[in-house]
This record gives sequence, structure tokens and C-alpha cells, in this order.
Amino acid sequence: MGKSNIMEFFGIVIIKLILFQQWTNCAGSDTHWTYTGSVGQFQWSEYFPDCGGTKQSPIDVETAQVQHDSSLTPVRPLGYRQPGKEPFTLTNNGHTVEMSLPGWMGLGGLPWIFTALQLHLHWGSSGSRGGGSEHTIDGHSSAAELHVVHYNSEVYANVSAAKKQSDGLAVLGVLIETGEDTNPAFENIIGYLGSIKHPGMTVSVPAFDVQTLLPLNLGRYFRYNGSLTTPPCYQSVLWTVFTERVKVSHTQLRKLETTLFSSESEESHSIPLQDNFRNTQPLNHRMVLASFPPETVPIYSVGEVCAMVIGALCGCIGLAVIACFVVKTIRSKETQKEPKQDVVFKTTSDPEKEEATTQPEP
Ligand SMILES: *[C@@H]1O[C@H](CO)[C@@H](O)[C@H](O)[C@H]1NC(C)=O
Ligand SMILES: *[C@@H]1O[C@H](CO)[C@@H](O)[C@H](O)[C@H]1NC(C)=O
Repeated sequence: MGKSNIMEFFGIVIIKLILFQQWTNCAGSDTHWTYTGSVGQFQWSEYFPDCGGTKQSPIDVETAQVQHDSSLTPVRPLGYRQPGKEPFTLTNNGHTVEMSLPGWMGLGGLPWIFTALQLHLHWGSSGSRGGGSEHTIDGHSSAAELHVVHYNSEVYANVSAAKKQSDGLAVLGVLIETGEDTNPAFENIIGYLGSIKHPGMTVSVPAFDVQTLLPLNLGRYFRYNGSLTTPPCYQSVLWTVFTERVKVSHTQLRKLETTLFSSESEESHSIPLQDNFRNTQPLNHRMVLASFPPETVPIYSVGEVCAMVIGALCGCIGLAVIACFVVKTIRSKETQKEPKQDVVFKTTSDPEKEEATTQPEP
């Protein structure tokens, strides 16, 4: 009897321990998630249920399937060009480099006024196949992607109240590719990464014009309802993905890809912070809107345009040659006819003459 009581007691203790373990897992907004591995992106939904939802981000934008909406006016950054005197704080949070934005910065040109929170980047790794962007356009990824995160301050008191609501957040997505020139705007971030190599480290960067990070054309973009691209993946984001890409130099991209670590400095095995992008998620019948009308004429390559111009020229020359030939043959026929007419005249006039000469005879 006493033996079974003890076994029962231990049984309950073990069950309680298991339940506690599961509870801490579920409750863990601080569960240590990663992009690959035991809590990698394919396991996120086990710990963060929203990550398994039907309106997840990022997505592949299929340009042939987007719907033009002429009511989508250019996005209006508010206060981006007034950085103020206080420095910005740049943080390695173990998943990305994040820069906090002052509360006077915001976003207009959307259904509500949004207030800026932070911006961060997603990237790949040197020599990685496609690129490190999260959104892809017709299956093509870019080298990296900038996200500027805002909350709906017209409807909600703060980000805590807004972050789970379907109209709670607005994120600007900027696709980044490489070029020859150093991008001075991005140097305001990339130039300081060496000071925040490990998670939890922060550095102050002198305030700068944040709008210089954005493309020039803020009127051409894709718009859709999606989610945060990292746990807890709340489906609360009104996305704006610009079609114009910004360029950073190859050196800047390499620094972004190789400077940070996702492991603490004390840990013996340093894990580089790379490939921090989520795979594209199913669209699930969501509409992707475009602020611009579809291209009415198919886009031709330079080679095709050259071929068309040469073809048209050859066609014109050919027609001209044919026209010349026709005109010449008509003229030559006319010149051949003229002498015949003379002959006819002569032959007809001759008997007349004969008649005229013979008439007075009788
Ligand atoms: C956010 O707003 C809600 C609702 O107004 C309020 O209850 C909460 O205390 C606020 N949280 C913070 C962190 O300010
Ligand atoms: C996003 O969802 C809201 C509410 O469900 C809807 O009114 C709006 O049209 C959607 N926006 C887009 C771009 O699909």
C-alpha cells in the first residue's frame, strides 16, 4: 500500500514536471528560435502558433497575378528627414541588427497614421545561392532586405496594444542589391556592426536622415496583408514592398553578412549571424495589390528591340525596292507603247492621206 502511494506521488511529480516544461515552452516568447536547427523555421509553429497561420509573410510576389489599385497613393514618410540630435541605438539582438526609431517618425499615405518603432535587416551568406531577401519577386530574391516597422497610432495607444491586431502594424520592405558604389546611407548602420558583434551588444550611432535608406520612388509598390516574418509571427502587418531596389556595394554586403554573431562572446563556438531570412509562405488566396498599372506592352530585351528595328528597316527597304521596280516596269511599258501608237497613227493617217489624195480623182 505504502509502496503504491509513493509510486503515485512520483508519478504526479513527473507529470507536473512535464506539464511545467510544456507550459514554459508555450509561454516562452523568449524561446530561443533560430532559422535552422531544433527550433528552426519549420518548427516555429510548434512554439508560436501564429507562425502556422494562413496570412504569413514573406511571400513571393507573382507580378502577373497582382491587382492594380489606383487608390494606392505614394507612401509618405513623416519626420524621417528630421533625425534630431539624440543618437540612434543599434542592437545585435541575436537574430538581426535593429535600430530604434524616435516616436516622431511615422508613416502617412496609408489608411491610418502609423508611428515608427525600429528598422532591421535580413541577409544571406557569402556565396549563398539566391540571396538573403525575405520577399521575392517572380521567384527572384535580392541580396538583402530592409524592414521599417511602424504601429497604428491612430487606433492603438502603444505597440503592445497594436501588435496582435489585424490593422496593428505597417512595415516597409526595401529590396537591396549590390552595385559598384558605397551607399553612404547604409554606411550609417554597416559601419558600426564591428562594435556589436555579439547578441545583446548595443552602440550609439549619430542620428541621420532615415529617408536616405529608402528608394527614391515611393509610389511604386506591392501591398498585402501579412505577418511578422519572425516569431511570434502575428498576422498584423500591412505590407508595402517597393519595386525600386536600393544598392549597396559588394564590400558593404560582405560586411553585413560576416560581421555579426548569434552566439555570446564567451561561447567557444562562434556562430555567425547569417541567412536570417524566412522562406516565402503560401499566399492562400490573399490579394496582392499594385500601386501601378500592369505593363500594357510586353517588356522586350535590348536584343529584341534591335532585331525589331532592323527587321522594320529591312521591310521598308524591301518595300522601297519593290516600289521602284513597279514604277520602272510601268514606265518602260509606257515608253514601249508610245512608238506603237505612232505606228498606228502613221498607218491610219496614210490611208487618210491616200483617201484625201484619191478623193478628188473622180
Ligand atoms: C498600452 O496600452 C494599453 C491600452 O491602452 C494599456 O493598458 C497598457 O498599459 C499600455 N502598455 C504600455 C507598455 O504602455
Ligand atoms: C487587408 O485586410 C483588410 C481587413 O480584412 C481589408 O479591408 C483590406 O482591403 C486588406 N488589404 C489588402 C491590401 O488586401
